[in-house]
Amino acid sequence: MEQDKTYDRLQELKEKLDFYSYQYYTLDKPTISDYDYDMLYRELETIEGAHPEWITADSPTQRVGHKISGGFNKYTHDRPMLSLGDVFNDDELREFDRRVRADLGEEAPQYVVELKIDGLAINLIYENGIFVRGVTRGDGIVGEDVTANIRTIKTIPLKINSASPHLEIRGEVYMPVSAFDALNKQRVEDELEPFANPRNAAAGSLRQLDPQITAQRKLSFFAYAVGGTAGIDIKSQEELLDDLKAFRFHVNKEHKTFDNMEEVIAFIHTWDKRRNTLPYATDGIVVKVNSFAQQERLGNTVKIPKWAIAYKFPPERAETKVLGISVTVGRTGVLTPAADLEPVRLAGTTVKRATLHNEDYIAEKDIRIGDTVIIQKAGEIIPEVIGPVPAARTGAEEIFVMPARCPGCGEPVVRREGEAATRCVNPQCPAVIAEKVAHFVSRDAMNIDGLGSAIVRQLLERRLIHDVADIYALEKDELTVLDGFGEKSADNLLQAVEESKHVGLARVLFALGIRFVGAKAGRILANRFGSVEALADASLEELTAVDEIGPRIAESVRAWFVNTDNQDLVRRLGAAGVDLTAEKKIAEGTSFSGEIVVLTGRLETMSRKEAQRAVENRGGKCTGSVTGKTTLVVAGTEPGSKYEKAQALGTPVISEEEFVAWLQRE
Ligand code: IVH
Repeated sequence: MEQDKTYDRLQELKEKLDFYSYQYYTLDKPTISDYDYDMLYRELETIEGAHPEWITADSPTQRVGHKISGGFNKYTHDRPMLSLGDVFNDDELREFDRRVRADLGEEAPQYVVELKIDGLAINLIYENGIFVRGVTRGDGIVGEDVTANIRTIKTIPLKINSASPHLEIRGEVYMPVSAFDALNKQRVEDELEPFANPRNAAAGSLRQLDPQITAQRKLSFFAYAVGGTAGIDIKSQEELLDDLKAFRFHVNKEHKTFDNMEEVIAFIHTWDKRRNTLPYATDGIVVKVNSFAQQERLGNTVKIPKWAIAYKFPPERAETKVLGISVTVGRTGVLTPAADLEPVRLAGTTVKRATLHNEDYIAEKDIRIGDTVIIQKAGEIIPEVIGPVPAARTGAEEIFVMPARCPGCGEPVVRREGEAATRCVNPQCPAVIAEKVAHFVSRDAMNIDGLGSAIVRQLLERRLIHDVADIYALEKDELTVLDGFGEKSADNLLQAVEESKHVGLARVLFALGIRFVGAKAGRILANRFGSVEALADASLEELTAVDEIGPRIAESVRAWFVNTDNQDLVRRLGAAGVDLTAEKKIAEGTSFSGEIVVLTGRLETMSRKEAQRAVENRGGKCTGSVTGKTTLVVAGTEPGSKYEKAQALGTPVISEEEFVAWLQRE
């Protein structure tokens, strides 16, 4: 029967997609193209759309669910999730070995060593092979139910090959270093506090009430334990790791088994040196007695097992010299001192500079120019000056004094009472304007290519621009006389300036550099208020009533719009033709993320510009011509040669109707 066939196809698609995803994410060995995967995924979505009664929790379409309201539920672990005792040096490890051997008597232990992944421990519950619940460790007894967020992690199988009615798989949820770096970069741009280390970032991501956000955070998972061995017959940690792998879990491959502690120590020392070459952060090595029978004999204390221990790596530190302290002015006018260091290798990178934050920080730590200092990477990423080595002083060191005048314009600087920051308050300061312009034209803001710092400096020197609105008054003959600027680059720049008028209010708000208004707040405010006038008129109450807009952003927005210079700036931008309204019909999202789209033919339900912006708001890119890189062509009525080219190249083509349906997908 037709119905049976469709149902069989559904099962087949679920299995196939699950397997391809396993190959891609867990094994890192994809066997089909992203495109083919997407096609199968869409087919599954179509069947499930027609038969919602067939949707099950283990379907690959169910990874990203709805917002959770009212916080996370508590969940009591079947068996407590133990923590580990710590040791910090070789002798403490030898001491652990002596205790184990004393307790075991005649029988010698074998040790399995694993990397200690810097993430957070999670308990995954599978009932009859289906993932039903994911819980944080919490205090070891009771954790938080973060199931919806766990589902979004692609290296966690939603279904495993086990008939056990209740199986608890334990391991570490972590954020790869690349994802961590990208997330922090974005947070700094959005004027949010960056996460101190990948572990905090992973924990913060798992505690989101909206699984959509967790899904974007690129978390992963390594399995290393079970909560009880019900349903599986295993005798050792080594065997367990093999079984977890067979269950299609992601198991860290760097584990090894040794017969004596000296070999373990040698292994630890190799990893201490090599750890920063890994794509994820590790803060130590876990040493476990291999045999489960021996583990049982050794037993546990209330909180920690007697059969395992964590060797913690020391944070990487290095000594170097402060060659000088230089001060730069940012776009908000704040002067930031930074130490220029004698280059030194630290945690995988060469460090030449470290921020010193402000005057007080330098004074508190008593850091002097010429000092030998100890630097450290906090959470393995951000270099930080721990402090000077006073014994290394020669007497030639100099105490740093914050300059009384701005290094950019020479005007006196001010430090307000109660603030640590020293500021340049000259609205005409060329250094501050240059930074403002650099931000204004940057990719996530107005996206004006061709206005690099050297060009901006010349424009400022020639008094061709005084603020960002002047960019829109630039003329070709003013540009062609600049150093390094020809006919072609002038045309390109003017073209980019012209195109920037249509980026929409969200980006304009971000580009203006209003304190605390990052790219995300810009989008939220634009969507809510729709036009710059409505936003400028909004009261503090109206602003704080917006979801995700707190008093800090609200006050900053108010303060910005009551300033008459800023009002004037907005007016001039509007007069220059910059679109200060937001597309409100179509919400932002990620359904086009990574797509390179070409529009062809006439669209009936929206303008080209609207279509383009809708794609961009959803993470896609629109280009003018069909090439091998194009991933999708939208064909309206009477499509032209682009349509034929797409056919020839085998590029997927969709109709306007399908396009609109895609836009509404989230
Ligand atoms: S075994 C009873 N193995 O370290 C055994 N833990 O300080 C419990 N961790 O809470 C844990 N990598 O979050 C184990 N390969 C690994 C680990 C690991 C990281 C974390 C875990 C645990 C903490 C204990």
